[in-house]
Amino acid sequence: MDSNINHNKVYIATFFCYTKMDWGLKNRLSRIFNPKSGKTVMLAVDHGYFQGPTTGLKDFKKAVEPLLPYADCLFITRGMLRNCVDANTDVPIFLRVSGGPSILGELSNEDITTSMKEAIRLNAVGVGLSIFVGEKNEDRTISNLGRLVNEAEEYGIPVLAITAVGKEMERDARYLSLACRIAAEMGAHMVKTYYCKEDFKQIVESCPVPIVIAGGKKIPEKEALQMAYDAINEGAAGVDMGRNIFQSDNPVGMIKAIRAIVHEKKSVDEAYKIYEKEKK
Ligand code: R5P
Repeated sequence: MDSNINHNKVYIATFFCYTKMDWGLKNRLSRIFNPKSGKTVMLAVDHGYFQGPTTGLKDFKKAVEPLLPYADCLFITRGMLRNCVDANTDVPIFLRVSGGPSILGELSNEDITTSMKEAIRLNAVGVGLSIFVGEKNEDRTISNLGRLVNEAEEYGIPVLAITAVGKEMERDARYLSLACRIAAEMGAHMVKTYYCKEDFKQIVESCPVPIVIAGGKKIPEKEALQMAYDAINEGAAGVDMGRNIFQSDNPVGMIKAIRAIVHEKKSVDEAYKIYEKEKK
């Protein structure tokens, strides 16, 4: 276990130090990935961009504020950022910049919705966009990623490609590695995808940029911790987790427990104790 974790740390450090990166890009990445652990706990709260008032985020401010001290960065849309997050916050902001369809429409029909100028105005450390590999608009969304990277690199802003999120489909290693590798080939600096039980390591190994996992639908807390643990142990550079935190009966306990796994190498049982302690 330890050797894997050390390997990951070295891998992220190498990614930071030896790839030819502009200072601004490097600096922003170092605000996303904790320089000590080399990993990140991103709090995903962008769900409303196609789901509207998602369970757990209906009262957005009330749900998100207590979690902010434990998030390495906040993955959010510009509208919720402006309206519901105090501008005095020191939590780095990762901006979702794609959208279009609602949950009632064709999800793959996304385009870039938020400009680079806006991302800079909002002091974002990164911008995220979805690609839809194997779906109706795969070619357009993949081209959008390329265009976003072109623009973001002008300003030293990292791009997160989000793949396989949102649809009920077979998310096996073969599909996920196809999608993650395409994202990296297009120039994404990081990729968000799902964890899969079989061969997740292969996805990490065939993708040259850091992978963070989305949590997916709410599952029992211990199972979500186990998923985070397995993903980290198999090479993920962190999580960008939403529902399994803000829909938990104890969101603060849950994000603390996730942090313990991602940054402190705690076991699932140790992390679960952290979650339970906070509940009391
Ligand atoms: C999709 O709606 C978003 O990109 C979410 O940020 C992503 O799915 C992560 O959230 P969750 O852990 O709830 O899946």
